[in-house]
Amino acid sequence: MNKANSIITINDCQSDASAIVRRLLNQIKHTAESFALIYDLEIVNLHNFLAGSVCDPQPILNALLSHPGVDVRTLLNIDSVPKFKDKFSENHDVVTMSGDDSRKTARMFNRGPSKESKTPFYRYFDTATTPTSPFRPELIEPLMFADGSSEIHRGYFNHGHFEDQITLFLGDVNLHWLNNSSEQLIFTATQFASSYKLPFIPHTFTSRPDIGGRILAVTYLGATANQEFISFSKNLTLNKFCELLDAYEPIDNLDAYYDLNVVTSIAPATSKIYSGNSQRVQLIDQIPGQPNSSVSLLCVSPKSELIIPQNLNHQWLFNCSNTSAETSWRNGAFDFGPDSSMAVSPMTELKMQNLNCDFTIIACFSVRAGDGDPFLHAKRILKYVGRDAVSRIQHETCQWFD
Ligand SMILES: [Fe+2]
Repeated sequence: MNKANSIITINDCQSDASAIVRRLLNQIKHTAESFALIYDLEIVNLHNFLAGSVCDPQPILNALLSHPGVDVRTLLNIDSVPKFKDKFSENHDVVTMSGDDSRKTARMFNRGPSKESKTPFYRYFDTATTPTSPFRPELIEPLMFADGSSEIHRGYFNHGHFEDQITLFLGDVNLHWLNNSSEQLIFTATQFASSYKLPFIPHTFTSRPDIGGRILAVTYLGATANQEFISFSKNLTLNKFCELLDAYEPIDNLDAYYDLNVVTSIAPATSKIYSGNSQRVQLIDQIPGQPNSSVSLLCVSPKSELIIPQNLNHQWLFNCSNTSAETSWRNGAFDFGPDSSMAVSPMTELKMQNLNCDFTIIACFSVRAGDGDPFLHAKRILKYVGRDAVSRIQHETCQWFD
């Protein structure tokens, strides 16, 4: 990686730097091991740092400063903020990453029912992101195959995370999750199917044999992550908090949206995507209580263009077709090729031109993190995920992504 910069020292950092670095690594989907490998860091030193033990912090801080998409400003203590004001005032209108650069960041994570039986389970790739984005994009390739017709071992599941998650499936992928009775449910996704999950739902992904697939996922903090709301909830017993949520205004017809606790959307018909003029095809646009977030496909027809208007949200775009689109904005341009990605800040208009003879298909995640009413979001979590999850709202702020 480039731009190693040693200007931030441990004296510039907040006292809980270990916890913040753990969160930063979590946000960029790295474990201590995978991050140490990239920057040639001593793993014991990094583990010591994360545990708050004696260590040499400087190589770790340098590596964080060099890594794209890490908001190191969150590390700074109040006295050091003015010192670095100019350093971090760069404008991040649009950040791009080519498919080749993304592939170079591939890293594998193991998972399994027991320590001895862990096998390669996911391959993760970095994509374009900005330090100021309120959400985190992920490109994941599930490496375990399952046909999607029967349950897989619970040992392959995570414990669910604090973040909401929207996913778009590329190829044949299974989403497995547990409902609030701990029953395993499976969504057998095909190309361009999508899903939204409430926080704290244990889940995992597998690929179906022959075709296999990948996942585009955006995780973001929902309304309940609001610090005032969390502080308020911490002052209540779990019983009192749940009582209060039960008594909160009813949720109308939510069952129509939720397949127990996950919203899924099957792929639109091929004829809708690959015919006609350039257009936006909405996928999930009915996330309950979050009217400002959506995922869609930008279908740019051959030899034509598509304007992506300014948006109040941050947006993440990923080219999931085999053709490119020449993409330009106020002060820049990018040859938006297959598997390339773009992180677009609010109020940035884009123009995409497809000079090819085939459609260019771009996945577009437009997300307003924190959107909605925290009480309603928490009430949904209580109803569709359960009391344990409500307790996690009170006591957990961020969980290791794995
Ligand atoms: Fe997840």
